[in-house]
Amino acid sequence: MWQPRTARPAARTLQEAVWRVAGLLRCARNDAGRRLVSSCAALTAAFSLTFAAAAAPAGEPTLQSAAASTGRYFGAALDPDHFDEKAYAKLATEQLGAVTPENAMKWDAVEPRRGDFDWDRADRLVAFARARGQKIRGHNLVWHSQLPAWLTRGPFAPAEVRELMTDHIAREAGRYRGAIYAWDVVNEPFTDDGRWRQSIWYDAMGADYVAIALRAARAADPDAKLYINDYNVETESPKMRALYDLAAALKRAGAPIDGVGLQAHFVAGHIPSDLRAVMQKFAALGVDVAITELDVRVRTPPDAKSLAVQAADYAAVVAACRAVKRCVGVTTWGITDDYSWIPSFFAGYGAALPFDEDYRPKPAYFAAVRAWTAP
Ligand code: G3I
Repeated sequence: MWQPRTARPAARTLQEAVWRVAGLLRCARNDAGRRLVSSCAALTAAFSLTFAAAAAPAGEPTLQSAAASTGRYFGAALDPDHFDEKAYAKLATEQLGAVTPENAMKWDAVEPRRGDFDWDRADRLVAFARARGQKIRGHNLVWHSQLPAWLTRGPFAPAEVRELMTDHIAREAGRYRGAIYAWDVVNEPFTDDGRWRQSIWYDAMGADYVAIALRAARAADPDAKLYINDYNVETESPKMRALYDLAAALKRAGAPIDGVGLQAHFVAGHIPSDLRAVMQKFAALGVDVAITELDVRVRTPPDAKSLAVQAADYAAVVAACRAVKRCVGVTTWGITDDYSWIPSFFAGYGAALPFDEDYRPKPAYFAAVRAWTAP
């Protein structure tokens, strides 16, 4: 159960101490160095404070520390509008090694009116994550949904649509250049039957819009990993096959695709038995794989039985990721049932996340931690 934070685990403290001493020694080697000691001391103090902020409650593993024990990250989608809420900020600080903006970096949020940009919420999320040494998964640059009305209303000629897309990518990925670990460059390009999803992008450029977007993102931020992200692709299906064939074609064409994101919005008791095999298939193309939006919805109100099934589901997803060398991490779509998209989209369902609406760890939390750390 949750305990207020007391002392930092030894490992982290030792790491900080070593860093502090090394920094000072390096500086004190010569006169110039000695003058720098004071500034280095300030630097080390700032670093360790920031570092310490992410330290876990004494002795308790966290989702991030457990994932990190296998070289992966554990992340969650967050809403900066809740950062002033103590319980929310504490959970996000202590449990996560990666964050994704649930809505703050979407086009309708950052450019609600043409040429009128609002980066406030996206900036706050980036600052929150950087202060805690957390990776940032940018979400998303090119999607058919949550587009500003001025853009969907148009009318724009195909060449204009292409320019609007590449300008937007250059502007947003350029703004956060160096801060973003991975971008969902293109989100949800396919329909459930594996055909190309109709969108202003596909209408204007056909399937080429994906490679055009990836190249624009690479130019804007050469270090960010570039992903295509979709849902209902976690099991062998026409949609999974379409995404696989697209990733293979992009690799053959030399387009800059670094990863495939499997959103993993699941119903409890229905985790695909071939999830691991599907991830392995994508990885065999030479791309990273990530679980990018995991939640496991149960009928509400949840009971001990449904929460036990959900716990086994979380363990199964973590175990599948752990078993695939190029699975780089697991991100949940939210972290607490207090804030989740599920109830408003799926009537009668909810309680889909590792922490309940009172920010208490659920059986799913303990099962996920065990699945990362089990020998
Ligand atoms: O911003 C407006 C606000 O001004 C207005 O007062 C309020 C009242 O309706 O709506 C707010 O917009 C909501 C927006 O979230 C921001 O909170 C939209 O109605 C609501 O539809 C939107 O839902 C988001 C949904 O994407 C939209 O498709 C969810 O929060 C978000 O969790 C969800 O995330 C998607 C991923 O991006 C892609 N994969 C699936 C996932 C779940 O749908």
